[in-house]
Amino acid sequence: MQTEPGDAGAAYLHGANSTEQARLLRRTAANSAAFLLPHLQPGWELLDCGCGVGSITCDFANVIAPGRAVGLDMQGAQIERARRLAVERGARNVKFDIGSVYDLSYADGRFDAVFTNTLFQHLKEPERALAEIRRVLKPGGVVAVADDDHSTVLWEPRTPALTEALRLIARVIAHTGGDVYRARHHRRLLLEAGFVRVSATGTLGTGGVWGSPEETRLFAAWFADQLRAPAGRELMIGQGWTDADSLEAIIGDVLAWGERPDAFFAVLGVAATG
Ligand SMILES: C[S@@+](CC[C@H](N)C(=O)[O-])C[C@H]1O[C@@H](n2cnc3c(N)ncnc32)[C@H](O)[C@@H]1O
Repeated sequence: MQTEPGDAGAAYLHGANSTEQARLLRRTAANSAAFLLPHLQPGWELLDCGCGVGSITCDFANVIAPGRAVGLDMQGAQIERARRLAVERGARNVKFDIGSVYDLSYADGRFDAVFTNTLFQHLKEPERALAEIRRVLKPGGVVAVADDDHSTVLWEPRTPALTEALRLIARVIAHTGGDVYRARHHRRLLLEAGFVRVSATGTLGTGGVWGSPEETRLFAAWFADQLRAPAGRELMIGQGWTDADSLEAIIGDVLAWGERPDAFFAVLGVAATG
């Protein structure tokens, strides 16, 4: 888990290592934000909260040009990668800022659209984040909040190790105030935050579908890195949810799963707009 000073206790399990960045770089506006694209207009200013490596943000910048996309993330390493990605793509109408969704440094009513993808499942105070998002959104602007919901995970072969690994990650996220089953509540959360014309849809793509050898290998390497990350490891062992030997065995099995020619992993997301 990585936290930044002054972030009001925000904790984020996944960090910003190379497998996490590779995992996020697969995401595009087409595969992770198709529900929002029909609402966007050229010339708009859009904020992407918890933008990670900025691959979706850069796609938004193309759609709303000559407007501007702003990506915000609390981890400096992700913002650095996002800025490099914008240069690699020649995207000039995109900007990336370090900051917290709980304390946005933007004026009231500045943005035409605010988007977040797989951020809310990690937040301890989603209502507080939505209040900030609403503050910086123009009256009549569009909000879109998307996450995957872990109850929809499909994976084969359903090995005991992968099952246990998923259970451990869900417990760590819950311990830091998040909820891997929050996505199903997004429509209600938006209504309670005062948004109107709120609707929700199912998505495939936020957590992703992993079904080729390259994909399942990357997924397994990412998962192994997550289980090895010191803060999460310390928590899992410290809480007695597992022990060092069992964790090593789980990691070995997860990596072996990723090499199997029949391995498959997918998770359904929920996106609410208002
Ligand atoms: C799973 S990643 C998703 C990144 C991106 N939205 C995407 O779909 O590719 C979640 C991101 O949210 C960021 N994050 C977590 N808590 C945050 C907070 N309180 N404020 C801003 N960013 C946060 C993390 O640093 C991480 O990069």
